[in-house]
Amino acid sequence: MDGDIAAEDDAVAEAAADLVEDGMWVGLGTGSTVAHLLPAIARRKRSIRCVATSPHTEDVARSLGIDVEAFEHLDRLDLAIDGADQIAPDGWLMKGGGAAHTREKLVAITAERFVVIAGSTKPVAHLGGPVPVELLGFGLASTMRRLGAVTLRDVPKSPDGGVIADVECTLDDPAAVAAWLSGTPGVVEHGLFPPEMVTMALVGRGTGVETLTFAPR
Ligand code: A5P
Repeated sequence: MDGDIAAEDDAVAEAAADLVEDGMWVGLGTGSTVAHLLPAIARRKRSIRCVATSPHTEDVARSLGIDVEAFEHLDRLDLAIDGADQIAPDGWLMKGGGAAHTREKLVAITAERFVVIAGSTKPVAHLGGPVPVELLGFGLASTMRRLGAVTLRDVPKSPDGGVIADVECTLDDPAAVAAWLSGTPGVVEHGLFPPEMVTMALVGRGTGVETLTFAPR
């Protein structure tokens, strides 16, 4: 089973790395699927510049010879590639299992094309909770009271100083949940990514790759 997952991750990583062309600015995601992507990109020896969604991705990418730059003054990227925890049939994503969702969402929204790479276990019939969130430390108890069923995750703070937590809620209407979380003072970001953000998902099917597309971007 683990070998199957690794083979799927390899297949989608190779397919995504083929989308990377000389001269591009590329956003690099975070997670175990992206761990397959970084060497696949490095092997192609493209002339690219990248931004990373986590210090770990930045370190690994640099160790492979990939040029990673700060994400402060750039206002567009050509392509971003990242994993997902769940992919709904309508293109809603759940992300943040690795607590990197705030930076991941900023990089994804900045890219002309955002490509999701995932093994065959990631597509689901319906998104299931909890929803990962990043919260401001200031006013934390107040924010948690207003969120209701929220559990602090036993992980370090985000690189931006945020507290990582998970919110239990029903997800029949992801847009409504996303709007509620985005409108809650103290919530820095949440792990629901809308279909409009997603250009396509490359899903591993054995050694093959299925391409899923959703709402026009
Ligand atoms: C990081 O916070 C997450 O959003 C990851 O991108 C997502 O959890 C996918 O990770 P895996 O590829 O490790 O499943």
